[in-house]
Amino acid sequence: MTKPNPIIIFLIIILIYISYLISSLFEFSNNLQNEIKEIKPSNRTLGFDHIYVVNLYYRTDRRDRMDKLASYLDLDFDYFSAASRYDNSLFRKYGYGELSPSRRACYLSHYMIYKSIIDEGLNNALILEDDVDFETNITAITTEIHRSLPDYWDTLYIGHCYEKIGKLVDNSSFTNRLYESVMPACTHAYAVSNWGARKLLEKLDPMVPHDAIDLALLERIKNKEITSYSVHPMPIIQWKSEDNPSDVPESLDTYFSLKNSTLQFLGYT
Ligand SMILES: *[C@@H]1O[C@H](CO)[C@@H](O)[C@H](O)[C@H]1NC(C)=O
Ligand SMILES: *[C@@H]1O[C@H](CO)[C@@H](O)[C@H](O)[C@H]1NC(C)=O
Ligand SMILES: *[C@@H]1O[C@H](CO)[C@@H](O)[C@H](O)[C@H]1NC(C)=O
Ligand SMILES: *[C@@H]1O[C@H](CO)[C@@H](O)[C@H](O)[C@H]1NC(C)=O
Repeated sequence: MTKPNPIIIFLIIILIYISYLISSLFEFSNNLQNEIKEIKPSNRTLGFDHIYVVNLYYRTDRRDRMDKLASYLDLDFDYFSAASRYDNSLFRKYGYGELSPSRRACYLSHYMIYKSIIDEGLNNALILEDDVDFETNITAITTEIHRSLPDYWDTLYIGHCYEKIGKLVDNSSFTNRLYESVMPACTHAYAVSNWGARKLLEKLDPMVPHDAIDLALLERIKNKEITSYSVHPMPIIQWKSEDNPSDVPESLDTYFSLKNSTLQFLGYT
């Protein structure tokens, strides 16, 4: 028997290695593409592909209240573990920028959700903070909003603060109607489309945020870099009471009211 030629063996090993490299390159580009999934919009997610609820693991009180809302309103919430202002390892990685730790943590939480929208291949997602209250007929309201929503949008503010009334978009006879956004603040109830998430990841720099996340979005909406719509009057508001201080302590305390509050209906005061 002749001894196998070491050069042939070497060439075979090189070939196997190259084919492995090529196949992993293909996998890599598939992952980058993150094809958008076909998800049938459901009332359980208010007509969006998904509902994220930003929740700090130690605010179990808020999570309990959100669970009660979900069960009464028949909604599916995906609790997204928020970055905390005590998370020093995160700040070591991303830096503090010019923001306070709680604003910084809030910024990074929302940024990570935009990433998740792309990674999960979602068409869009509603992002809620865990201190919200809904109109009892929120499902009917969002059904109407989806009917009026133009095909292309980046962000949609179902809740907001200090938003001015822009150009009317729908011609429905319902109470909560759709307008072009002018300069919506707050991030307690807004939806982001897949394109919107891509744009935001491109435009926001998590390493050097100068503004709180809502102001960073507002600035780009005002400049028309982001196509955005807002609902007036808003059917999702921030719920604030004496025993429910905000986790972003320096935020302005503002009260807005609903026509028919679900939390009040459930006995919260
Ligand atoms: C979703 O909710 C709307 C408004 O309440 C209702 O008209 C519609 O039938 C619901 N859809 C499903 C599939 O239950
Ligand atoms: C939701 O209920 C309010 C009254 O609480 C009403 O004004 C509004 O038109 C309703 N919206 C829809 C879409 O049914
Ligand atoms: C709203 O506008 C659309 C198209 O512009 C039209 O088809 C529809 O009939 C209008 N609805 C109402 C209630 O005016
Ligand atoms: C508020 O919502 C509840 C639950 O859907 C309903 O029973 C009640 O009639 C509503 N109240 C008003 C004033 O619309």
